[in-house]
Amino acid sequence: MMEQSDIHILGAGSIGQLIACHLAKAGLDPVLVVRQPGICGRQDFCLVEEEITRNFSIRVKSLEQSFRARVVLVCVKAWQLRQALDDIRPHLDEHSEVVLLQNGMGHQQSASEQLPGTGIISGSVTHGAWLSAERQVVHAGHGTIMLGYRDNRLNGNFPPWFGQFENTALSVHWSGNIDRVLWRKLAINAVVNPLTLLHQCKNGELLDQPEVEKQFGHLCREADRLLARLDYRWRESIETGAREVLRITAGNWSSMVQDYRAGKPTELDYINGYLLAEAGRQGLELPNHEQLHRRARQMLADSGAREAAKPAAGQGAFSSHFRK
Ligand SMILES: NC(=O)c1ccc[n+]([C@@H]2O[C@H](COP(=O)([O-])OP(=O)(O)OC[C@H]3O[C@@H](n4cnc5c(N)ncnc54)[C@H](OP(=O)(O)O)[C@@H]3O)[C@@H](O)[C@H]2O)c1
Repeated sequence: MMEQSDIHILGAGSIGQLIACHLAKAGLDPVLVVRQPGICGRQDFCLVEEEITRNFSIRVKSLEQSFRARVVLVCVKAWQLRQALDDIRPHLDEHSEVVLLQNGMGHQQSASEQLPGTGIISGSVTHGAWLSAERQVVHAGHGTIMLGYRDNRLNGNFPPWFGQFENTALSVHWSGNIDRVLWRKLAINAVVNPLTLLHQCKNGELLDQPEVEKQFGHLCREADRLLARLDYRWRESIETGAREVLRITAGNWSSMVQDYRAGKPTELDYINGYLLAEAGRQGLELPNHEQLHRRARQMLADSGAREAAKPAAGQGAFSSHFRK
């Protein structure tokens, strides 16, 4: 296979390692791109699925090396994206396509402005993964990966390299309306993540207290109001979706709880901050979400957690895409 057709994965964290291991398991030869200098060659990574551990030998390249990347799956946190795109830019050419797999919203527009002329694909990941050792990833929950162009430039068709994902166990699908997928995920995360943060519980424990369950219902209904405002055909219930997520991921800690406990910045502003900014643009008041965001921000500030760079302001371009 030619070098420029290889799938490059930027960021060797939980999702980066998960995707790399699954591609290797399917017989592909992906490249993990890391920022640590001096790391290159093949390295062994472990994938743990249902207590079965398998080893895969995966190519690793450092950003300081010289290489061309045709397809890059960017697997860094939303607040790390700007720097990561600057770092990968020297390895891109006019044919390169960059796939953004961050939770939250707002960063997709910034990335398009940062890399004009580069094909930007947006993605939503519902798998659950965490690192049990430096090069050992636990596949804690099987979900899907949805990808799509926000401008639907191929009329719902996917680019040729997408076929490489067909034989993996990652359940990768192409969407002709990725904004809808991103919004649904954002709304569910905006309810589940800060609530689990405030109550410091696993996903499956969140609705144990009647008071929390009541608040959960209010938050879901407010999210529904916003989504219905963005798309008059929106008929889904965020509460149904969020309950399903809590059921499937019952044994997991949300990423916001994990980041808080590790003293790392969270993606709160890319999730709840973005939801509230869009509500403001739509002239909608969401008092339960406003209070939740305030309380979560306060808790993070009290913990002394480093604050992440905020998403760029003034990104009101969603509604027209969303209504496709
Ligand atoms: N984990 C999940 O279950 C899950 C599920 C759904 C969605 N997501 C989303 O997927 C995204 C990635 O999450 P994650 O859990 O994989 O995060 P993570 O474990 O923190 O991994 C991010 C990785 O990217 C690396 N990185 C950061 N900046 C970089 C740069 N400029 N160049 C090269 N590498 C860089 C980080 O290195 P350092 O450690 O050196 O910073 C880290 O290894 C997030 O937006 C998250 O919300 C995650």
